[in-house]
Amino acid sequence: MLDSERPIGVFDSGLGGLTVARCIATTLPHESIYYVGDTKRCPYGVRSEDEVRSFVLQAGNWLAAHDVKIMIIACNTATAAGLRIAQQMLPVPVIGVIAPGARAAINSTRTRKVGVLATPLTVRTGAYTRAIQDLDAGVNVYGCPAPSFVEIVERELATGAHLQERWLQNGDVFDTPENRMEVERTLMPLISGGAQVDTVVLGCTHFPLLAGPIRHTLGPDVRVVSSAEETTRELHDILSRRNQLAPASARAEHRFATTSDNIAEFAAAGSFIFGQPLKSIEHISLDELNQPRKPCFGA
Ligand code: DGL
Repeated sequence: MLDSERPIGVFDSGLGGLTVARCIATTLPHESIYYVGDTKRCPYGVRSEDEVRSFVLQAGNWLAAHDVKIMIIACNTATAAGLRIAQQMLPVPVIGVIAPGARAAINSTRTRKVGVLATPLTVRTGAYTRAIQDLDAGVNVYGCPAPSFVEIVERELATGAHLQERWLQNGDVFDTPENRMEVERTLMPLISGGAQVDTVVLGCTHFPLLAGPIRHTLGPDVRVVSSAEETTRELHDILSRRNQLAPASARAEHRFATTSDNIAEFAAAGSFIFGQPLKSIEHISLDELNQPRKPCFGA
């Protein structure tokens, strides 16, 4: 296999990172993806920073040992906690989703008032505020923690194999009266607190699935942006600079690994988010993920 044909490693706490993987697969159709979803330990957003940092290193070492050419941390929470250490410790380049999300927000805002909707841990670290203000120190950033959203998404996704049919028949399956109520309750500090944001960045890769009720709550004057496109652009630029873009002759092969004990559920929900069937899924135990590995420098 050519060096440039090695897969792109993509990591998330569960299924949310597939929103980013889907964008990569569509935009860079010759690239192969090796996706790891740590579903068993999801959600990360309510855990401590130290714990999430150690999970990032485990997944990163695992992906590096499986010969990926680059790693994307497709989880804002994991990026906030572990991007820096992963970049220092892993033998491959590592990209997070927060700097790309910050760029998307800066490109969108006109009033320089931006809301960040994210897990409690991501908001607590202040990583988005730093990333946005590194680009424009005059932007006011309003963090809005959404502790229940990941569980809502994972719960809807767990309803199984009929998601696609239900979406086709009834429209957005996530846009239910109950979800609208919970989204309104969560966004209240942002909309009634006088922040007057014109842009809200979805600072969690699960949240694009709740874009329906989020847009409904925020109304037509607020733009809702996420990091998938910007992350894919950054990925393209890095691979291109390193001469590692897969050639047009390469046939993409996507593989998926999960710590979930329910592969059928991961397959059904994952295929729905990824937009195509997840053909090759393997189970990895937490022990396998946590096995110490020899670092393989020189990639
Ligand atoms: N998808 C992850 C993110 O982007 C968070 C999910 C979790 O809390 O595990 O932040």
